[in-house]
Amino acid sequence: MASSSSSASSSAAAVVLCIWLCSFSSSSRCHGAPTVVPALYVLGDSLTDVGNNNHLHLSLIKADFPHNGVDYAGREATGRFSNGKNSADFIAEKLGLPPSPPYLSLSHASNSVGTFLSGVNFASGGAGVLNSTHRDKCLSMNKQIDYYASVYGSIVQQLGSYKAQAHLSNSIFALSIGSNDILGYVRSSSSNKLKHTPQTFIDSLASSLQQQLRRIYNLGARKYVFIGGGPIGCCPALRHDNRTRECNVEANHLSVEYNKRASSLLQQMSIELSDMSYSFFDTYNALLEFINNPDTYGFVEVKSACCGLGKLKARVACIPISSYCSNRRNHIFWDMYHPTEATYEKLTITAFDGSVPYVYPINIKQLVAM
Ligand SMILES: *[C@@H]1O[C@H](CO)[C@@H](O)[C@H](O)[C@H]1NC(C)=O
Ligand SMILES: *[C@@H]1O[C@H](CO)[C@@H](O)[C@H](O)[C@H]1NC(C)=O
Repeated sequence: MASSSSSASSSAAAVVLCIWLCSFSSSSRCHGAPTVVPALYVLGDSLTDVGNNNHLHLSLIKADFPHNGVDYAGREATGRFSNGKNSADFIAEKLGLPPSPPYLSLSHASNSVGTFLSGVNFASGGAGVLNSTHRDKCLSMNKQIDYYASVYGSIVQQLGSYKAQAHLSNSIFALSIGSNDILGYVRSSSSNKLKHTPQTFIDSLASSLQQQLRRIYNLGARKYVFIGGGPIGCCPALRHDNRTRECNVEANHLSVEYNKRASSLLQQMSIELSDMSYSFFDTYNALLEFINNPDTYGFVEVKSACCGLGKLKARVACIPISSYCSNRRNHIFWDMYHPTEATYEKLTITAFDGSVPYVYPINIKQLVAM
Protein backbone atom coordinates (compact mmCIF):
# COMPACT_ATOMS: atom_id res chain seq x y z
CA MET A 1 0.00 0.00 0.00
CA ALA A 2 2.68 2.42 1.11
CA SER A 3 4.85 1.45 -1.85
CA SER A 4 2.05 1.87 -4.37
CA SER A 5 1.21 5.35 -3.09
CA SER A 6 4.87 6.38 -3.23
CA SER A 7 5.16 5.16 -6.81
CA ALA A 8 1.96 7.04 -7.66
CA SER A 9 3.39 10.24 -6.24
CA SER A 10 6.71 9.77 -8.01
CA SER A 11 4.97 9.25 -11.34
CA ALA A 12 2.95 12.40 -10.66
CA ALA A 13 6.24 14.18 -10.07
CA ALA A 14 7.55 12.87 -13.40
CA VAL A 15 4.50 14.24 -15.19
CA VAL A 16 4.97 17.63 -13.54
CA LEU A 17 8.64 17.59 -14.56
CA CYS A 18 7.72 16.75 -18.13
CA ILE A 19 5.13 19.53 -18.31
CA TRP A 20 7.65 21.93 -16.81
CA LEU A 21 10.26 20.99 -19.42
CA CYS A 22 7.71 21.07 -22.21
CA SER A 23 6.66 24.57 -21.29
CA PHE A 24 10.14 25.69 -22.32
CA SER A 25 9.85 24.02 -25.64
CA SER A 26 8.14 25.09 -28.81
CA SER A 27 8.66 21.81 -30.57
CA SER A 28 6.56 18.70 -30.79
CA ARG A 29 9.05 16.40 -29.15
CA CYS A 30 7.40 16.40 -25.72
CA HIS A 31 5.81 13.03 -26.00
CA GLY A 32 8.20 10.72 -24.20
CA ALA A 33 11.07 11.08 -21.78
CA PRO A 34 11.95 14.62 -20.75
CA THR A 35 15.16 15.92 -22.24
CA VAL A 36 17.45 18.80 -21.44
CA VAL A 37 18.78 19.24 -24.97
CA PRO A 38 16.49 21.60 -26.92
CA ALA A 39 17.97 20.89 -30.35
CA LEU A 40 20.58 19.05 -32.39
CA TYR A 41 22.39 20.94 -35.17
CA VAL A 42 24.42 18.75 -37.50
CA LEU A 43 27.14 19.78 -39.95
CA GLY A 44 29.17 17.25 -41.87
CA ASP A 45 29.54 14.69 -44.62
CA SER A 46 27.83 11.48 -45.69
CA LEU A 47 28.04 9.93 -42.23
CA THR A 48 25.37 12.44 -41.18
CA ASP A 49 23.62 13.58 -44.41
CA VAL A 50 19.88 12.91 -44.03
CA GLY A 51 18.86 14.15 -47.47
CA ASN A 52 20.52 17.48 -48.29
CA ASN A 53 22.20 16.10 -51.39
CA ASN A 54 18.80 15.04 -52.79
CA HIS A 55 18.31 18.75 -53.46
CA LEU A 56 21.62 19.25 -55.31
CA HIS A 57 20.46 18.48 -58.79
CA LEU A 58 23.86 18.50 -60.44
CA SER A 59 25.54 16.30 -57.86
CA LEU A 60 26.32 12.66 -58.48
CA ILE A 61 27.02 12.09 -54.78
CA LYS A 62 23.59 10.77 -53.87
CA ALA A 63 21.91 7.93 -52.06
CA ASP A 64 18.26 8.59 -52.92
CA PHE A 65 17.78 5.32 -54.80
CA PRO A 66 17.64 1.65 -53.86
CA HIS A 67 19.17 -0.31 -52.25
CA ASN A 68 19.92 2.51 -49.83
CA GLY A 69 17.26 2.59 -47.15
CA VAL A 70 16.32 -1.07 -47.53
CA ASP A 71 16.04 -1.23 -43.73
CA TYR A 72 14.67 2.29 -43.26
CA ALA A 73 11.00 2.80 -42.35
CA GLY A 74 8.96 2.02 -45.46
CA ARG A 75 12.16 0.78 -47.22
CA GLU A 76 12.58 4.39 -48.28
CA ALA A 77 15.78 5.68 -49.93
CA THR A 78 15.87 9.04 -48.14
CA GLY A 79 19.33 10.12 -49.24
CA ARG A 80 21.06 8.53 -46.26
CA PHE A 81 24.23 6.66 -47.22
CA SER A 82 23.16 3.57 -45.31
CA ASN A 83 20.84 0.59 -45.41
CA GLY A 84 18.89 2.30 -42.62
CA LYS A 85 19.66 5.07 -40.18
CA ASN A 86 22.99 6.89 -39.88
CA SER A 87 25.00 8.65 -37.16
CA ALA A 88 22.81 11.77 -37.18
CA ASP A 89 19.71 9.64 -36.55
CA PHE A 90 21.26 7.67 -33.71
CA ILE A 91 22.66 10.76 -32.01
CA ALA A 92 19.20 12.37 -32.14
CA GLU A 93 17.60 9.18 -30.84
CA LYS A 94 20.00 8.96 -27.89
CA LEU A 95 19.27 12.63 -27.09
CA GLY A 96 15.54 11.90 -27.12
CA LEU A 97 14.99 14.12 -30.17
CA PRO A 98 13.48 13.42 -33.58
CA PRO A 99 16.06 13.45 -36.40
CA SER A 100 16.90 17.02 -37.41
CA PRO A 101 15.50 17.65 -40.91
CA PRO A 102 17.75 18.44 -43.88
CA TYR A 103 18.20 22.20 -44.23
CA LEU A 104 17.60 22.17 -47.98
CA SER A 105 14.16 20.62 -47.43
CA LEU A 106 13.17 23.54 -45.18
CA SER A 107 14.55 26.70 -46.63
CA HIS A 108 11.45 27.45 -48.66
CA ALA A 109 8.96 26.43 -45.98
CA SER A 110 7.03 29.31 -44.46
CA ASN A 111 7.23 28.24 -40.81
CA SER A 112 10.94 27.42 -40.84
CA VAL A 113 11.87 29.41 -37.75
CA GLY A 114 9.84 27.11 -35.49
CA THR A 115 11.48 24.16 -37.18
CA PHE A 116 14.94 25.72 -36.81
CA LEU A 117 14.43 25.74 -33.03
CA SER A 118 14.09 21.99 -32.89
CA GLY A 119 17.27 21.34 -34.86
CA VAL A 120 18.55 21.38 -38.44
CA ASN A 121 20.91 19.13 -40.38
CA PHE A 122 23.26 20.78 -42.90
CA ALA A 123 25.41 17.70 -43.64
CA SER A 124 26.14 16.85 -47.25
CA GLY A 125 27.65 13.69 -48.70
CA GLY A 126 31.10 14.33 -50.15
CA ALA A 127 31.69 17.46 -48.07
CA GLY A 128 35.09 18.38 -46.75
CA VAL A 129 36.85 20.95 -44.62
CA LEU A 130 38.32 22.36 -47.83
CA ASN A 131 36.13 24.16 -50.37
CA SER A 132 37.98 22.30 -53.11
CA THR A 133 36.84 18.85 -51.89
CA HIS A 134 34.06 17.79 -54.33
CA ARG A 135 33.55 21.42 -55.29
CA ASP A 136 30.02 22.07 -56.63
CA LYS A 137 28.91 18.50 -55.88
CA CYS A 138 28.07 19.03 -52.22
CA LEU A 139 27.75 21.68 -49.51
CA SER A 140 31.28 22.31 -48.27
CA MET A 141 31.71 22.88 -44.53
CA ASN A 142 32.05 26.61 -45.20
CA LYS A 143 28.82 26.64 -47.18
CA GLN A 144 27.06 24.70 -44.40
CA ILE A 145 28.21 27.29 -41.89
CA ASP A 146 26.93 30.06 -44.20
CA TYR A 147 23.52 28.38 -44.10
CA TYR A 148 23.74 27.90 -40.35
CA ALA A 149 24.55 31.62 -40.01
CA SER A 150 21.24 32.47 -41.66
CA VAL A 151 19.41 30.04 -39.36
CA TYR A 152 21.17 31.71 -36.42
CA GLY A 153 19.95 35.09 -37.69
CA SER A 154 16.35 33.86 -37.78
CA ILE A 155 16.57 32.37 -34.29
CA VAL A 156 17.96 35.62 -32.87
CA GLN A 157 15.27 37.58 -34.66
CA GLN A 158 12.56 35.35 -33.21
CA LEU A 159 13.81 34.90 -29.63
CA GLY A 160 16.01 37.93 -29.10
CA SER A 161 19.71 37.44 -28.49
CA TYR A 162 19.48 36.51 -24.80
CA LYS A 163 16.99 33.64 -25.25
CA ALA A 164 18.63 32.61 -28.51
CA GLN A 165 21.95 32.20 -26.73
CA ALA A 166 20.31 30.20 -23.92
CA HIS A 167 18.75 27.91 -26.52
CA LEU A 168 21.98 27.40 -28.48
CA SER A 169 24.17 26.94 -25.38
CA ASN A 170 22.17 23.88 -24.39
CA SER A 171 21.93 22.53 -27.92
CA ILE A 172 24.32 19.94 -29.33
CA PHE A 173 26.38 20.77 -32.42
CA ALA A 174 27.52 17.53 -34.04
CA LEU A 175 30.22 17.69 -36.71
CA SER A 176 31.57 14.92 -38.94
CA ILE A 177 34.10 16.23 -41.44
CA GLY A 178 37.58 15.53 -42.82
CA SER A 179 37.38 12.03 -44.34
CA ASN A 180 36.58 13.29 -47.85
CA ASP A 181 39.53 15.68 -47.81
CA ILE A 182 41.80 12.78 -46.86
CA LEU A 183 40.36 10.50 -49.55
CA GLY A 184 40.88 13.27 -52.09
CA TYR A 185 44.51 13.71 -51.08
CA VAL A 186 45.26 9.98 -51.12
CA ARG A 187 43.82 9.69 -54.62
CA SER A 188 45.44 12.85 -55.98
CA SER A 189 48.28 12.78 -58.49
CA SER A 190 51.87 12.28 -57.44
CA SER A 191 52.62 15.82 -58.63
CA ASN A 192 49.99 17.15 -56.20
CA LYS A 193 51.61 15.09 -53.42
CA LEU A 194 55.00 16.60 -54.28
CA LYS A 195 53.52 20.09 -54.01
CA HIS A 196 51.61 19.31 -50.82
CA THR A 197 53.40 16.93 -48.48
CA PRO A 198 51.26 14.99 -45.98
CA GLN A 199 52.41 17.49 -43.37
CA THR A 200 51.42 20.63 -45.31
CA PHE A 201 48.14 18.99 -46.31
CA ILE A 202 47.23 18.22 -42.69
CA ASP A 203 48.33 21.75 -41.71
CA SER A 204 45.94 23.25 -44.25
CA LEU A 205 43.07 21.06 -43.00
CA ALA A 206 43.77 22.06 -39.42
CA SER A 207 43.92 25.76 -40.18
CA SER A 208 40.60 25.73 -42.08
CA LEU A 209 38.99 23.57 -39.41
CA GLN A 210 40.12 25.97 -36.71
CA GLN A 211 38.39 28.88 -38.46
CA GLN A 212 35.25 26.80 -38.92
CA LEU A 213 35.07 25.71 -35.27
CA ARG A 214 35.53 29.34 -34.17
CA ARG A 215 32.94 30.63 -36.57
CA ILE A 216 30.37 28.19 -35.19
CA TYR A 217 31.26 29.35 -31.67
CA ASN A 218 30.72 32.96 -32.73
CA LEU A 219 27.28 31.86 -33.91
CA GLY A 220 26.31 30.55 -30.50
CA ALA A 221 27.55 26.93 -30.38
CA ARG A 222 28.85 25.85 -26.98
CA LYS A 223 28.57 22.06 -26.91
CA TYR A 224 30.45 20.32 -29.71
CA VAL A 225 30.36 16.67 -30.61
CA PHE A 226 33.18 16.02 -33.06
CA ILE A 227 33.09 12.77 -35.00
CA GLY A 228 36.71 12.21 -36.00
CA GLY A 229 38.04 10.54 -39.14
CA GLY A 230 37.62 6.77 -39.40
CA PRO A 231 40.06 4.10 -40.60
CA ILE A 232 39.45 5.29 -44.15
CA GLY A 233 42.11 2.97 -45.52
CA CYS A 234 40.02 -0.02 -44.41
CA CYS A 235 36.87 0.86 -46.35
CA PRO A 236 36.13 -1.65 -49.12
CA ALA A 237 36.98 0.90 -51.85
CA LEU A 238 40.56 1.30 -50.65
CA ARG A 239 41.06 -2.37 -49.73
CA HIS A 240 39.91 -3.17 -53.26
CA ASP A 241 42.81 -1.16 -54.65
CA ASN A 242 45.35 -3.12 -52.58
CA ARG A 243 46.34 -6.48 -54.03
CA THR A 244 46.57 -8.00 -50.53
CA ARG A 245 43.10 -6.59 -49.61
CA GLU A 246 44.67 -5.03 -46.54
CA CYS A 247 44.03 -1.46 -45.41
CA ASN A 248 45.58 1.49 -47.21
CA VAL A 249 48.34 2.63 -44.91
CA GLU A 250 48.60 6.22 -46.14
CA ALA A 251 44.87 6.95 -45.68
CA ASN A 252 44.85 5.49 -42.19
CA HIS A 253 47.96 7.40 -41.20
CA LEU A 254 46.47 10.70 -42.43
CA SER A 255 43.26 10.04 -40.52
CA VAL A 256 45.21 9.49 -37.29
CA GLU A 257 47.17 12.71 -37.86
CA TYR A 258 44.01 14.66 -38.67
CA ASN A 259 42.31 13.38 -35.51
CA LYS A 260 45.25 14.48 -33.38
CA ARG A 261 45.03 17.98 -34.83
CA ALA A 262 41.25 18.21 -34.61
CA SER A 263 41.15 17.08 -30.99
CA SER A 264 43.91 19.46 -30.01
CA LEU A 265 42.10 22.38 -31.69
CA LEU A 266 39.03 21.58 -29.62
CA GLN A 267 41.10 21.27 -26.48
CA GLN A 268 42.71 24.68 -27.10
CA MET A 269 39.31 26.24 -27.67
CA SER A 270 37.91 24.80 -24.46
CA ILE A 271 40.85 26.26 -22.54
CA GLU A 272 40.51 29.71 -24.09
CA LEU A 273 36.73 29.82 -24.04
CA SER A 274 35.52 28.74 -20.63
CA ASP A 275 31.90 28.32 -21.74
CA MET A 276 32.73 25.92 -24.58
CA SER A 277 32.88 22.15 -24.11
CA TYR A 278 33.26 19.17 -26.40
CA SER A 279 33.27 15.45 -26.80
CA PHE A 280 35.71 14.06 -29.36
CA PHE A 281 34.76 10.69 -30.81
CA ASP A 282 37.74 8.80 -32.16
CA THR A 283 36.04 6.95 -34.99
CA TYR A 284 39.42 5.63 -36.08
CA ASN A 285 40.05 3.60 -32.94
CA ALA A 286 36.42 2.71 -32.33
CA LEU A 287 35.84 1.30 -35.81
CA LEU A 288 39.24 -0.39 -35.96
CA GLU A 289 38.32 -2.17 -32.74
CA PHE A 290 35.22 -3.60 -34.50
CA ILE A 291 37.33 -4.57 -37.53
CA ASN A 292 40.00 -6.27 -35.43
CA ASN A 293 37.64 -8.07 -33.03
CA PRO A 294 34.44 -8.58 -35.00
CA ASP A 295 33.16 -11.55 -32.90
CA THR A 296 33.06 -9.41 -29.78
CA TYR A 297 30.70 -6.94 -31.45
CA GLY A 298 28.51 -9.28 -33.45
CA PHE A 299 30.17 -8.70 -36.83
CA VAL A 300 31.30 -11.37 -39.28
CA GLU A 301 32.25 -9.54 -42.50
CA VAL A 302 34.76 -6.73 -42.01
CA LYS A 303 36.28 -6.35 -45.49
CA SER A 304 33.56 -6.67 -48.09
CA ALA A 305 30.72 -4.21 -48.58
CA CYS A 306 27.17 -5.52 -48.32
CA CYS A 307 25.91 -3.70 -51.42
CA GLY A 308 27.88 -3.45 -54.65
CA LEU A 309 29.40 -5.69 -57.31
CA GLY A 310 32.75 -7.34 -57.93
CA LYS A 311 35.63 -7.99 -55.56
CA LEU A 312 34.74 -6.96 -52.00
CA LYS A 313 31.55 -5.58 -53.63
CA ALA A 314 33.70 -2.53 -54.24
CA ARG A 315 34.21 -2.60 -57.98
CA VAL A 316 30.74 -1.22 -58.66
CA ALA A 317 28.97 1.09 -56.19
CA CYS A 318 25.66 0.36 -54.46
CA ILE A 319 23.36 1.22 -57.36
CA PRO A 320 20.03 -0.38 -58.29
CA ILE A 321 21.63 -3.10 -60.47
CA SER A 322 23.99 -4.12 -57.63
CA SER A 323 23.24 -6.98 -55.28
CA TYR A 324 23.09 -6.67 -51.51
CA CYS A 325 23.59 -9.09 -48.65
CA SER A 326 20.80 -10.50 -46.51
CA ASN A 327 22.84 -10.47 -43.28
CA ARG A 328 23.24 -6.73 -43.01
CA ARG A 329 23.62 -6.64 -39.24
CA ASN A 330 26.83 -8.65 -39.38
CA HIS A 331 28.56 -6.52 -42.03
CA ILE A 332 30.62 -3.52 -40.98
CA PHE A 333 30.27 -1.80 -44.37
CA TRP A 334 27.08 -1.15 -46.27
CA ASP A 335 28.69 0.10 -49.49
CA MET A 336 32.28 0.68 -50.55
CA TYR A 337 32.61 3.78 -48.34
CA HIS A 338 29.89 3.73 -45.71
CA PRO A 339 29.05 1.75 -42.58
CA THR A 340 25.89 -0.29 -42.14
CA GLU A 341 23.14 0.89 -39.85
CA ALA A 342 24.37 -1.69 -37.31
CA THR A 343 27.84 -0.09 -37.35
CA TYR A 344 26.47 3.47 -37.09
CA GLU A 345 24.39 2.37 -34.11
CA LYS A 346 27.24 0.64 -32.26
CA LEU A 347 29.58 3.57 -32.89
CA THR A 348 27.01 6.01 -31.52
CA ILE A 349 26.49 3.92 -28.38
CA THR A 350 30.25 4.10 -27.78
CA ALA A 351 30.22 7.87 -28.37
CA PHE A 352 27.45 8.28 -25.79
CA ASP A 353 28.48 5.91 -23.07
CA GLY A 354 32.11 5.02 -23.81
CA SER A 355 35.43 6.34 -22.54
CA VAL A 356 39.06 6.74 -23.62
CA PRO A 357 40.57 5.85 -26.04
CA TYR A 358 37.30 5.99 -28.01
CA VAL A 359 35.74 9.20 -26.71
CA TYR A 360 37.35 12.01 -24.71
CA PRO A 361 37.69 14.11 -22.61
CA ILE A 362 34.05 13.28 -21.88
CA ASN A 363 31.40 11.23 -23.66
CA ILE A 364 28.22 12.69 -25.16
CA LYS A 365 26.12 11.77 -22.15
CA GLN A 366 28.46 13.76 -19.91
CA LEU A 367 28.51 16.66 -22.37
CA VAL A 368 24.71 16.81 -22.27
CA ALA A 369 24.73 16.84 -18.47
CA MET A 370 27.15 19.80 -18.25
C1 LIG B 1 35.28 28.97 -49.30
O1 LIG B 1 33.90 29.14 -49.54
C2 LIG B 1 33.27 30.20 -48.79
C3 LIG B 1 31.80 30.24 -49.19
O2 LIG B 1 31.09 29.20 -48.68
C4 LIG B 1 33.93 31.51 -49.07
O3 LIG B 1 33.36 32.51 -48.26
C5 LIG B 1 35.42 31.41 -48.80
O4 LIG B 1 36.05 32.61 -49.18
C6 LIG B 1 36.04 30.25 -49.58
N1 LIG B 1 37.43 30.10 -49.19
C7 LIG B 1 38.41 29.96 -50.06
C8 LIG B 1 39.78 29.82 -49.50
O5 LIG B 1 38.21 29.93 -51.26
C1 LIG C 1 48.61 -3.03 -48.97
O1 LIG C 1 48.66 -3.85 -47.82
C2 LIG C 1 49.94 -4.13 -47.33
C3 LIG C 1 49.80 -5.04 -46.13
O2 LIG C 1 49.46 -6.30 -46.57
C4 LIG C 1 50.64 -2.86 -46.95
O3 LIG C 1 51.95 -3.13 -46.51
C5 LIG C 1 50.69 -1.92 -48.14
O4 LIG C 1 51.27 -0.70 -47.76
C6 LIG C 1 49.27 -1.70 -48.64
N1 LIG C 1 49.28 -0.85 -49.81
C7 LIG C 1 48.88 0.41 -49.74
C8 LIG C 1 48.84 1.14 -51.04
O5 LIG C 1 48.57 0.95 -48.71
